Amino acid sequence: MARSRKKNFQLPKGMNDILPVEQPYWEKIRKTAQEVAANFGFSRIDTPIVEDLDLFIRGTGSSTDVVKKQMYILRSKGSQILALRPEATPGVVRAYIEHGLSSLPQPVKLWYLGPMFRYEQPQAGRLRQFYQFGAEIIGDQDPILDAQIIQLSFRFLQKLGLKKTSLQINSLGCPNCRPLFRRNLVDYYRSQRKKICLDCRRRLKENPLRLLDCKQEKCQPIIAQAPVLIDCLCNECRNHFKSVLEYLDELEIPYFLNHHLVRGLDYYTKTVFEIFPESESALAKRQTALGGGGRYDGLVKLLGGNETAAVGVSLGLERIINQMKVESIKATVRVKPSVSLIQLGDLAKRKVLKLFNEFQKAGIVVRESFSKGSIKAQLRIADRLKTRFSLILGQQEVIDETIIIRDMKTGIQETVPLVKVVKEVKKRLKK
Ligand code: HAM
Repeated sequence: MARSRKKNFQLPKGMNDILPVEQPYWEKIRKTAQEVAANFGFSRIDTPIVEDLDLFIRGTGSSTDVVKKQMYILRSKGSQILALRPEATPGVVRAYIEHGLSSLPQPVKLWYLGPMFRYEQPQAGRLRQFYQFGAEIIGDQDPILDAQIIQLSFRFLQKLGLKKTSLQINSLGCPNCRPLFRRNLVDYYRSQRKKICLDCRRRLKENPLRLLDCKQEKCQPIIAQAPVLIDCLCNECRNHFKSVLEYLDELEIPYFLNHHLVRGLDYYTKTVFEIFPESESALAKRQTALGGGGRYDGLVKLLGGNETAAVGVSLGLERIINQMKVESIKATVRVKPSVSLIQLGDLAKRKVLKLFNEFQKAGIVVRESFSKGSIKAQLRIADRLKTRFSLILGQQEVIDETIIIRDMKTGIQETVPLVKVVKEVKKRLKK
């Protein structure tokens, strides 16, 4: 008991407080996400932070690192097993199926912004709670939509001031052509078995595609010689990929074909992509991707819906803010207050409380320092806030039903009737 009273509580490892000084970045991100999504015709969706664990096992994939190693799992009182969402795509698809969104005109375009949870080893750019802005287009297989999702991602980053980003893209084929590639890959890796790392030996059994994503030094020469997916694509997948690239050319979005880009989630078919800060482009390590996504034409069916094509993206907001800081991009500061209210004595305090309301109603941004007693301390705060006017209500002014307007630039003061002060300030602010 005594020990727990002394304990200093700390943030859970890999999680962040977003303090007031950071909020301008988050406000800018939220506003930009909303604007860009609306301009592209997306509607907002919010799904719960917890879902049935099986949704992720089936949706994200039982052999993925995300599901095998990184899930926060909780047992509810009714002994239902829930998980904190490691990503939002399976939840969005569940909602699409559960609420019959397939009966709306297709495709349905949805966006979201919220926290995700992955029990990762925290390091730069890798958190256990992180935020994503995501967009999903469900109900159409046209390759132009793959390009639109990428266009939306770039628009978002550009509006935030991140102009130097690069796109890596690949095609993972479909259930018709991928097995052939998988067989080729497994045959090749079996012949190299002695040279690969322990993790890759496991991947060879469980999830061969992920062999191409290994970061171990000793596996790099083997990856370099591995068969490439693009050579095994069926006609449909090849044509789809060709069209996506042509649309990107049309949009003048440069891309880098990365034959080893496989992504860490199981549901992808055809197009997959990741976006990196430019400086890291070709050799980028996975953890620095600002965002990633792709097509997932099998997921709706896998989760119990009809056969439905879909494509989407998620962007990591902490990584984006970090990159904005690296590039010295400032987030706009909040609106500057125009008026500081300053009071002396209890009676004045009461009047100022009411006056605050009147300024609010008039749409004038006003600040108070109710908890400060001395006029000097309050004027110092007004100075720091750089308000245009300070309104001073002392004991004499309360008796006279007047108030002093002090121009904070010139220091000139003038006494006006209390009832007219809002109108008077409004007039002066217009000058
Ligand atoms: P993801 O590649 O797992 O894809 O995550 C997307 C982005 O979220 C990453 O590129 C990164 O910026 C950020 N992110 C992921 N893990 C962490 C972490 N531990 N700490 C900080 N940031 C992180 C998805 O989540 C898919 N749902 C994307 C998608 C949508 N595919 C189709 N639709």
